[in-house]
Amino acid sequence: MNILITGGAGFIGSHTVVALAEAGHTPIILDNFCNSQPTSLEGIAKILGSKPKFYQGDCTDIKFLETVFTEEKIDGVIHFAALKAVGESVAEPLAYYRNNIDSLLSVLEVATRHEVRAFVFSSSATVYGEPDQNPIPETSQRQPATSPYGNTKKICEDILRDATLAHDGSLRSIALRYFNPIGAHPSGYIGELPLGTPNNLIPYLTQAVAGLRPPLTVYGNDYPTPDGTCIRDYIHVVDLAEAHIAALEYLFAATADMPRYDVYNVGTGHGTSVQELIDTFEKVNSIPVPYSIGARRAGDVVSCYADPTKIENTLHWRAQKSLDQALQDAWNWQKNIL
Ligand code: NAD
Ligand code: WQD
Repeated sequence: MNILITGGAGFIGSHTVVALAEAGHTPIILDNFCNSQPTSLEGIAKILGSKPKFYQGDCTDIKFLETVFTEEKIDGVIHFAALKAVGESVAEPLAYYRNNIDSLLSVLEVATRHEVRAFVFSSSATVYGEPDQNPIPETSQRQPATSPYGNTKKICEDILRDATLAHDGSLRSIALRYFNPIGAHPSGYIGELPLGTPNNLIPYLTQAVAGLRPPLTVYGNDYPTPDGTCIRDYIHVVDLAEAHIAALEYLFAATADMPRYDVYNVGTGHGTSVQELIDTFEKVNSIPVPYSIGARRAGDVVSCYADPTKIENTLHWRAQKSLDQALQDAWNWQKNIL
């Protein structure tokens, strides 16, 4: 199948391009490099032995999208392209609403015009807010968003659901709710390339270990968890990439009795605290992590990890890689880009 990957030069997109090509599909990348660099395409080419087709442009540009969909026979779309920095979205909400919502609307509009059958959207566990229960099943209520970024994910899920159900053609779609993606391709050729000071734990930690940043601040150790630090579900980005292939292939094989739109958690089902993560990083990489305990960060939820039963039973996807592997791959990638 020819699969358009918007945001395919980014962190999760680049790993998904590799997984798609390895599964025998033809990835076609679209990106405007607003949060990535052409070097990620070179990394993909090193892994695959050839460069996938690439279009540079903006997902909010309908004319440009028309050109891409007219030149290529696109069977399916994986829509990653979005801005994703929670703090920045609080400072610049309009930029986030414009980019994230307009991108989805435009890509969906053109994709439906061109009779695309399968659409996979990058949603986030952020839609659960402070969850009612852990592990979190998909049936758990979505909470009011705590940031404009989080709100764009909720709104986009609703847009995708409504557009899919209203469409009288063959469109089917899935929103994947990612938990905390970490790690890098084991080759060390692609990984996360945050611009500026990273907000997320792993890129900050690896840059601090590399001496590029001041020591890591652990945001609070007085939470109601066994060691007092927050708990998350860290998932290897290569496993996450595979979940997209499972979702697409499920959509392509769908029969009339299956839901046209659905949501799936993508996580390991295991919660890891910030302290456990630091200790594991030190153990598997034999290197100390410089850190100190600081104040809580506004907006952090105490604990958030997936119930992955639905994706395991329906899409037959399950996380394969361990936290140890993810932390080794993250450090290997950081050393490669020093
Ligand atoms: P990323 O920033 O590395 O990748 C996003 C890519 O989209 C970038 O290459 C960027 O240049 C591109 N892009 C953004 N807006 C665009 C536009 N209008 N037109 C064309 N290209 C555009 O981010 P990522 O971590 O790979 O995240 C991918 C998706 O997954 C995003 O939708 C993000 O919100 C979602 N997500 C990420 C996480 C996470 O922790 N990384 C968690 C949950 C959900
Ligand atoms: C993880 C843990 C922090 C940095 C965010 C978004 C979410 C999703 C994933 C896109 C928390 C702690 C962090 C640091 C720390 N993105 N931490 N010191 O907050 O779970 O989720 O990214 O959809 O929407 O909100 O991820 O990596 O920022 O934090 O102690 O310097 O690490 O408090 O407990 P988070 P994170």
